[in-house]
Amino acid sequence: MTSESAHSSAPADNRLLPGPILLLGAPGVGKGTQAQRLMGDFGIPQISTGDILRDNIARGTELGRAAKSLMDQGQLVPDELVNGMVGSRLTQPDVRRGYILDGYPRTLGQAEWLDSHLISLEEDAGAVSLPLVAISIKVDEQELLRRITGRRICPVCKTIYNIHSKPPRKEGFCDNEGSPLQHRSDDTEQAFTERMKAYNSLTAPVIEHYSRQGRFREVDGSRAVEEVTASIEAALRHLRQAGE
Ligand code: AP5
Repeated sequence: MTSESAHSSAPADNRLLPGPILLLGAPGVGKGTQAQRLMGDFGIPQISTGDILRDNIARGTELGRAAKSLMDQGQLVPDELVNGMVGSRLTQPDVRRGYILDGYPRTLGQAEWLDSHLISLEEDAGAVSLPLVAISIKVDEQELLRRITGRRICPVCKTIYNIHSKPPRKEGFCDNEGSPLQHRSDDTEQAFTERMKAYNSLTAPVIEHYSRQGRFREVDGSRAVEEVTASIEAALRHLRQAGE
């Protein structure tokens, strides 16, 4: 468990909250930070497509080799590769109570694939599971660039730091592991511009998709981390109660 996920602000009544949860939002908006906190509160795993791809790059797999240059340039990895990765992750037993998808789906094609994949999983299991709900976090673009360029990550426990808003106790080293912190190769101003273009053209329709289905809420991500978590949890309770 990371220091982010070990916080103690779990809501008194979170029984309505698990099930599939999507965290959407532009690069640097706080999806990973919030996913780590929700994971601690609800005892369900985070599935970050960005983390899975970076892990494949670090291990030098075929998938990692196919993804690396696209990611460094701020472009999306093809849908069929990402869908396959998510489909295989969703076969693991720890997702039964629910999971937090961080950064997926981010094209309409991925969203449609996920919808039909979840229906087929339900049919195979012979049971109806909780419907998927989507939360989008919103922050203005200037703040996003500051967050991205200030971000540092522990390669071992994946704790997310920021030189401005969440510095480690010892500069450059993880509080938990003592490992040297890393700066992501796509956390440059140039790659950020491309990532924002991809977000605005390809991921905005995903938000429309879930909004039309009445399974979507937007939260203001510009406030303190704890306040954003509280807003997400309130939005989740609302969506789950509305779907009962
Ligand atoms: P991915 O890793 O998913 O990157 P992203 O979506 O661009 O999002 P980030 O990880 O940059 O930011 P975040 O929202 O998680 O913010 P964080 O919590 O770290 O994807 C990377 C690449 O992989 C893509 O460009 C693409 O190539 C590929 N990829 C991944 N998924 C794909 C998919 N589905 N399809 C195709 N390609 C895919 O926070 C950022 C910083 O801000 C941190 O330093 C944090 O400490 C700080 N911070 C967080 N919250 C606050 C706050 N409230 N106040 C102040 N600081 C804060």
